[in-house]
Formats: sequence, C-alpha cells, structure tokens
Amino acid sequence: MGKKENLITGIDIGSHAVKICQLQKTGKGYKLLALGSMAIPPGSVEDGVLEEPDEVRKAIAALLKNLKIKNTKIGISISGYSVIVKKINLETMDDDSLAEYIKAEAEQYIPFDIDDVYLDFQKLPPRKEGSDQIEVMLVAAKKEVINDYLDMLHKLKLKTVLVDVDGFALENIWETTTDAPGNVALVDIGASKMNINIISDGVSVLARDIIVGSEQLTEQLANALEIEYEQAEQIKLGLVAAEEQREKIEEIFTRTCTQWVLEIKKAIDLYLANNPDKPLISLVLSGGGSKVTGLQEYIHKETGLPVIAFNPFQNMICDEKKFDREYLESIAPEMAIATGLAIRPAAF
Ligand SMILES: Nc1ncnc2c1ncn2[C@@H]1O[C@H](COP(=O)(O)OP(=O)(O)OP(=O)(O)O)[C@@H](O)[C@H]1O
Ligand SMILES: [Mg+2]
Repeated sequence: MGKKENLITGIDIGSHAVKICQLQKTGKGYKLLALGSMAIPPGSVEDGVLEEPDEVRKAIAALLKNLKIKNTKIGISISGYSVIVKKINLETMDDDSLAEYIKAEAEQYIPFDIDDVYLDFQKLPPRKEGSDQIEVMLVAAKKEVINDYLDMLHKLKLKTVLVDVDGFALENIWETTTDAPGNVALVDIGASKMNINIISDGVSVLARDIIVGSEQLTEQLANALEIEYEQAEQIKLGLVAAEEQREKIEEIFTRTCTQWVLEIKKAIDLYLANNPDKPLISLVLSGGGSKVTGLQEYIHKETGLPVIAFNPFQNMICDEKKFDREYLESIAPEMAIATGLAIRPAAF
C-alpha cells in the first residue's frame, strides 16, 4: 500500500480520433499524468480495421511527443467485425482441461477459421453457488487485423503489452472508478459505432456493437445542406451558427437520436425480459457522440433511467494547474476507453 505502481499508456484508436492517457497508481488512488486526443483523417480506421496505418502512426507519434510520454509499454483495444466476444456455458472443469478444451473446440463457437484468429478466454465468477456449470468468456480476433496494429505500433518502438476489447476497457474503468456500483447499462457512442454493455451483478451479460454514431450526423448535415464534411462537423458541434437552416438541422438530430435511443431501448428490454428481478439503476453514457445537446434528457425520458455522463477523472487526482477542470470535464466522455486501458499495470 502507498507504493506507486507503473501502469501502461492507454491508446484508444477510434475512427475519428486517437486518444491517449497515462495514469499513475498512488496510495491515494489514480493520478492523471497526461491525456490528449488527436483527430485522424476520415477513413483511416474503418470498422476496427487499420486502413491507413501511416496516418494513425503519425497521430500517435505527435501525441506522445506533445504529451512528453516516455513510457513505451502501451495497451490498445479493438472492436468491429474482426473481434468476436462470446460467452459459453461448459461443464465444470479444472483450468488445464479448460485451456485444452478451448483450444480443441473453439472453432464451433466462432465464425472464423481457427488458424486465422488469436484466441483468449476468461472464466467468469460463478453466478450460482455449487453449480456444475461454468461460464467462460471467449474472445477471438482476426490475426491479420491485430497484426496491422502491432506492426504500426512496433514502428513507433512501442511495446504492446495489452490488446483489449473496447467494451471490456469501458467496463473496467467504470467498475474501478464508480462509487455507486449496481446494475447499469454502459453506452459508448463514438463516431461510427455505439457499444452497449449491460453489467449485472458485476458481469457483462449483454454486449453489442451497433453501426451508428456521431459521424452519421455530420454526413447527413453535409448532404442535406449541400456543404463540405468539415463545415457540417462545425455546425454539428455548434461552432458555426446556421440559423436559417435550423429546422432542417433539428430534424436530422431528432431522427438520428431517435434511432440511437431505439437501439438502446431494444437492448435494455431484452435484458429486462431475461432478468426481470434485476432492474438497472442507471445508464452511463460515454464517447464523443454522447455530447449531443439534449441527448441525455431524451434518453432519460425514453428509458426512465437516470442518465450519467461518465467522467472517469471525477475520483482521480488531477493537478488543476496542469489540467483545466472544464477541459477535463468536456473531454472526459471521449477519454473513457483510453483510461480503461491506462489503469492496467505495466508488469503483467
Ligand atoms: N458536442 C458534440 N455533439 C455531437 N457530436 C460530438 C460532440 N463532440 C464530439 N462529437 C463527435 O464525437 C465523435 C468522436 O467521439 P469519439 O472520440 O468517442 O469517437 P471515436 O472513438 O473516434 O469513434 P468510434 O469509437 O466510433 O470508432 C466525433 O464524430 C465528433 O464529431
Ligand atoms: Mg471510440
């Protein structure tokens, strides 16, 4: 106790921006050492695949330099069609037999050739005392997709010690930093995808990626107003006024947010149908897309759940001279996954 522990640098490579976070574990909790975000050209990362490694590499290099991060042990997370996360039920068996079983039988659970994927698994805590069944979380990720990331990071002389899954990183940071544990729906709305992860009794019971996000808004604004993408992004963020087009803009926001909320409600309804005795206590929002004005209130109205704008820095030690409080609060939702990677120890 009280000893400082070295942690990895968290690098969240999103389709809109790369986010980097460096934390330190102290006796008094996590301390924020560095954080930053840099947009990457559209199309650099698509559906979790690294399409333009050089662009992403340049952004990471610039961020690490600006932030003066010397630590070379880093962690990334992945998502998209090339990663499969599946919970399977098996007869109770010891750890060695389980490892053997997964190696031999994994193919039946995943839609890829077993030689083409990296496999990982984790035994979940038993849901019932004395059960003869165990639950195992199986993760399979396409080697060619992961290798592209590893090669790109290797060129930067970084040591990738962790390849996590977006949803797990989010779950970790929520569980580590919240002071109100309970059954929740974690919802991360990024630029090109929405990740919904329902945590019940400390375990993820429903996880899905849906191909909707804030980029949708930009594209629709650009089309409807016949303007450039960059200009549409500025209007979306409220940086440029477009008073005479207000009605059209509002209609696009309403239509898109309605679609997002329908997806969220579908997931919650499915969860409640299977777990009627385990109501959710709140819905926790993260990702840049969650900052759409009025979205929180709208989700609250439609789901009846208290909506929390996730701020992973809330219970961390943040030097106010180094990190402006308002800036931290505004960037916090986008930084959630990067912080979820940055809480992991460097020696594991
Ligand atoms: N106030 C806001 N209103 C609407 N959208 C916003 C706002 N602030 C940021 N965004 C959008 O959030 C997105 C960036 O969020 P984030 O960094 O979470 O995405 P990402 O991780 O790069 O994407 P993904 O996870 O989908 O690959 C951008 O599309 C940006 O325009
Ligand atoms: Mg993201």
